[in-house]
Amino acid sequence: MSGRITVQDICLSAELARIHAVIDRGLDIAVEHTAQVEGAALPEALHLYVDTLLTVVEAHHHAEETLQYPLFRQRVPEVPYALLYSQHEVVNARLDAVDAALARSDEAGAIHAALVELRTRWDQHAREEERHLARPEFEVAFTVDELERLHHQATLHTRGFSRSPQLVLPFLLYHLDRHERRVFGRDLSRWLRRVVVPWTWRRHWRPIRPYLPHPPKGLRG
Ligand SMILES: [Fe+2]
Ligand SMILES: [Fe+2]
Repeated sequence: MSGRITVQDICLSAELARIHAVIDRGLDIAVEHTAQVEGAALPEALHLYVDTLLTVVEAHHHAEETLQYPLFRQRVPEVPYALLYSQHEVVNARLDAVDAALARSDEAGAIHAALVELRTRWDQHAREEERHLARPEFEVAFTVDELERLHHQATLHTRGFSRSPQLVLPFLLYHLDRHERRVFGRDLSRWLRRVVVPWTWRRHWRPIRPYLPHPPKGLRG
């Protein structure tokens, strides 16, 4: 779908679904491709892809814990935040396991197994979180200006959190289709979206291009 950005696009549940979709897609791609090379060494580009995916999940959790949950707790206290925090701990332990497998093993099977476990834990948490943020209380808890401010803070946080925004930002954008990308990148400058990410930073994200579901059209190699 393409077209103008609507209020439905920027509500909290849609924002959450969008970043979760990036991670869902990333995990599916990582699991699928590591399965294809089981028994062999992990290709360098796939290693970089999985490593970037881990950073994206970590940054997302960190943004929720430092920016969003504290504010949500004030406005919609009915949500079981303690449960969501504890699920983050479980997912974080699986992130560490994938990270350790990446660091110590050049055998893709161990990395694949750790990714499958991570996907299971992520899926349990993400679906639970989506269910709570779809509560009607959230629909009236924030004004449009507040939603836009939250979005902006989350974008800045992700860029600041990562040691490699040249990889993380393209990873986020190119896991989204055209409309989703437009909504997600609505507060990025035109220069960053049209020039810096696709062209200036291309040498950073080019190795992982084969794994990106929605890479920019017209750029080859
Ligand atoms: Fe979460
Ligand atoms: Fe989340």
